[in-house]
Amino acid sequence: MVIITCPKCARKHKVNPDIIQVHIDSGKNISATCRSCKYKFPVLMDQLIDRSSTEKQTQGQKARKICVTLSKGGVGKTTTCVNLGAGLALAGYRVLLVDTDTQGQSSYILGKKPNAGLTELLTKELTPAECIVNARKNLWLLGGGKSLAGVKRIIDRKSFGAEWTLAEAMEPLDHQYDFILMDTSPGWDQLIVNVLFYATEVLVPVALEVMPLHGLSEFMKSLGSIQKYRNEISLKYIVPTFLDTRIKGPQVLYSELKKLYPEYVCTPIRYSESLSEAPSFGKTIFEFAPGSFASADYRELVRKVSRDDTALV
Ligand SMILES: Nc1ncnc2c1ncn2[C@@H]1O[C@H](COP(=O)(O)OP(=O)(O)O)[C@@H](O)[C@H]1O
Ligand SMILES: [Mg+2]
Repeated sequence: MVIITCPKCARKHKVNPDIIQVHIDSGKNISATCRSCKYKFPVLMDQLIDRSSTEKQTQGQKARKICVTLSKGGVGKTTTCVNLGAGLALAGYRVLLVDTDTQGQSSYILGKKPNAGLTELLTKELTPAECIVNARKNLWLLGGGKSLAGVKRIIDRKSFGAEWTLAEAMEPLDHQYDFILMDTSPGWDQLIVNVLFYATEVLVPVALEVMPLHGLSEFMKSLGSIQKYRNEISLKYIVPTFLDTRIKGPQVLYSELKKLYPEYVCTPIRYSESLSEAPSFGKTIFEFAPGSFASADYRELVRKVSRDDTALV
């Protein structure tokens, strides 16, 4: 059963999910009229999810550790990491987002200004609980930011086991979440190597623009060199991003990508103004434009990654 609350008189109404399923499937915003005060109001898509039945009580199991990475900047890594995390959280999973980028954009997108984050965890200045902030229901954040530059220098100076620094610091958190999603900075540095020594699954967003496939094949080589030392990690998802359906070029690149990596390529994320506007409001795509096609694309990715065809439908 779905509960919709009237924003005017706060009266709660039980609604049969079968009746609204068609609207949920269409992804469009819908409106409701309160039976008590007759107030007409828009209903947000994520209010329609029956949380009591979707809450996944899997505490105790090890989290799936997924890193979102590609050396090229501006391909949609941060956007994908945050919105995938937010979507998994809406689907009832406990999610920790780890921002390993010095730009600290994950916090910005979620409208948070954490006092501490990954730096303090890696330098052991604070306990994990002190470094992590709750960003939404089921969604936690270990923020990145400028201070990570100093951490990279500390890692670089280590003469022994430098690549395991992050894995060691994160270990106590492994059983507290269903998913640990890590966003990485562009380029290739010691912190990314650390992420690849901790994560077990790799998700690569590939912008369907000029030269994306070159960056991908370069990354595959780098991943191969990590796998020589750590075979637990593997590429799981290639997410085409910025698909502009009005022009031919991106569709050609998408077909090429599917031919080259048929087992990894996911349904693309279409080009959407909403995705570039949402961060300045501190909102995820599900909050900013729940009825948009970008929201529908990220819900599809949530189903793929969670391996649950019924998630957020
Ligand atoms: N599908 C999309 N459609 C339109 N704009 C997007 C899309 N995905 C991301 N953006 C915007 O493009 C810019 C780069 O995305 P971002 O996720 O920060 O890339 P990266 O983390 O790889 O550098 C951001 O301003 C973001 O809001
Ligand atoms: Mg980024």
